[in-house]
Amino acid sequence: MCDYYFDGKGKAFRPMIVVLMARACNIHHNNSREVQASQRSVAIIAEMIHTASLVHDDVIDDANSRRGKMTVNQIWGERKAVLAGDFILSAASVALARIGNTTIISVLSQVIEDLVRGEFLQLGSKENENERFAHYLEKTFKKTASLIANSCKAVSILGCPDPEVHEIAYQYGKNVGIAFQLIDDVLDFTSCADQLGKPAAADLKLGLATGPVLFACQQFPEMNAMIMRRFSLPGDVERAQQYVLQSDGVQQTTYLAQRYCHEAMKEISKLRPSPERDALIQLTETVLTRDK
Ligand SMILES: *[C@@H]1O[C@H](CO)[C@@H](O)[C@H](O)[C@H]1NC(C)=O
Ligand SMILES: *[C@@H]1O[C@H](CO)[C@@H](O)[C@H](O)[C@H]1NC(C)=O
Repeated sequence: MCDYYFDGKGKAFRPMIVVLMARACNIHHNNSREVQASQRSVAIIAEMIHTASLVHDDVIDDANSRRGKMTVNQIWGERKAVLAGDFILSAASVALARIGNTTIISVLSQVIEDLVRGEFLQLGSKENENERFAHYLEKTFKKTASLIANSCKAVSILGCPDPEVHEIAYQYGKNVGIAFQLIDDVLDFTSCADQLGKPAAADLKLGLATGPVLFACQQFPEMNAMIMRRFSLPGDVERAQQYVLQSDGVQQTTYLAQRYCHEAMKEISKLRPSPERDALIQLTETVLTRDK
């Protein structure tokens, strides 16, 4: 069960960013692009924490497909899926302890707290429209960006003693992470199930109002009632989908993602030039143009 998603078919987006960040920071500090064993461990741990959270999310959402495969809960049942997620997280904790640095332990433990708090935020909703957007961005940071931000910070701490570099790494990861999720939320409306490896409009079906819906609601206030009842009446999902596609919710969410990517680029550009730094700059572009 625990091996199931480690089949080499994921995007490995997180380990890739973390290893590039490790190299970029090492070069910035002492001109060695050598990735230290502890930095490589952080990349592995980041993917493990991410995978454990997917296994648990699929139980919470009662999802039956992911990355074009059946989910763990679908095959083995919910109870075993919860335990499998716990087991992956425990293996990640053992690997984290083995690095033997209390600073790194506390940076990466924060991620686990944020993931749980983010999931709770997603279960709640806000009545007030302004509060709703802030709530959505906070949820997005905690559920997606915190892992990338803090893993980037961890490898920067291991590679370079300068606190300014740690802040650059953190800000880069945070901004790329939020942009990544905003585009994910756009793809839920614009991409078909085949491309995504999971059903389309999945968020609406779960009762979730993401960026495109929140922007569309500014143009079509009649969506408010639907958001408040979490798209639970027959036809709500389809009608909300129509509203979003008639509005410029998709464009506005994409534009917001562009602004986060621009901020990430601004931060990482402060590091000494290297192929790895430039790859991280390029990556902000790929986040915006991906279609799955
Ligand atoms: C953690 O690693 C960093 C970078 O090598 C080092 O500066 C720091 O002293 C270490 N902290 C502990 C508590 O071992
Ligand atoms: C500095 O460079 C050496 C190789 O020249 C490498 O072994 C060492 O890990 C580097 N130190 C840091 C903190 O990146």
